[in-house]
Amino acid sequence: MILILLGPPGAGKGTQAKKITEKYKFPQISTGDILRAAVKEGTEMGLKAKGYMDAGKLVTDEVVIEIIKDRIKEDDCSNGFILDGFPRTMAQASSLGDMLKENGMELGHVLDISVDESFLVERLTGRRTCKNCGFGYHIRFSPSSTDGVCDKCGGGLFQRDDDNEETVKNRFEVYKDQSDELKSFYSGLGKYQLIDGTTDPESVFKAVSAVIDG
Ligand code: AP5
Ligand code: MG
Ligand code: ZN
Repeated sequence: MILILLGPPGAGKGTQAKKITEKYKFPQISTGDILRAAVKEGTEMGLKAKGYMDAGKLVTDEVVIEIIKDRIKEDDCSNGFILDGFPRTMAQASSLGDMLKENGMELGHVLDISVDESFLVERLTGRRTCKNCGFGYHIRFSPSSTDGVCDKCGGGLFQRDDDNEETVKNRFEVYKDQSDELKSFYSGLGKYQLIDGTTDPESVFKAVSAVIDG
């Protein structure tokens, strides 16, 4: 099944994607994670993307569309996948439609994890992520048992460069500008599902699973 996760920065897209992967085995494709890896490796794509990401702006459509085009052709995507953070513009949504058609794939659901902005700054500034395995923590809502160390693999935890209040504000603005059109587009296709993202991660996942299980 092909799933799209929509939702503002900090809504829990990554958190829910990891739970979906664990239960249903669909791989998580996060354009944010792929871009951050490229920045870290210092590739040409990473160098292009870094300025946009640090400013909380969107990386160009061409770059992210190319990422997805290549990624969904890989073998692990043949039974479905989770798009976490893509599409974010109508141009991306329309390219995705073309790609799915070309590959004979059909979109399952678009899950919009909805959380009021007032919750999100704390979620983002308190987020910590494992350098090694990518597992996500929150200093208040889901802390690791030892400060700064991953429970799963012992790796060190880091804070994302774009999780400061200034950049977070810009990311919210960008999301607000782009999201309405995407929501109406997928509603029109009959694929859109609103999920309450304000409860704890397990309860959110119950709602997500209910949609996937139909
Ligand atoms: P991206 O990495 O996609 O960031 P984002 O959309 O801003 O979303 P986040 O990853 O910050 O939040 P999330 O919803 O995954 O939340 P999480 O589960 O971690 O994009 C980053 C940048 O890359 C963009 O700004 C742009 O520059 C570029 N980019 C990426 N995709 C692009 C595209 N398609 N086009 C153009 N540019 C693109 O949760 C957050 C925290 O809250 C965690 O600490 C977690 O533990 C905690 N938490 C989660 N759920 C709950 C809950 N239910 N209750 C309490 N705490 C919770
Ligand atoms: Mg994320
Ligand atoms: Zn880890």
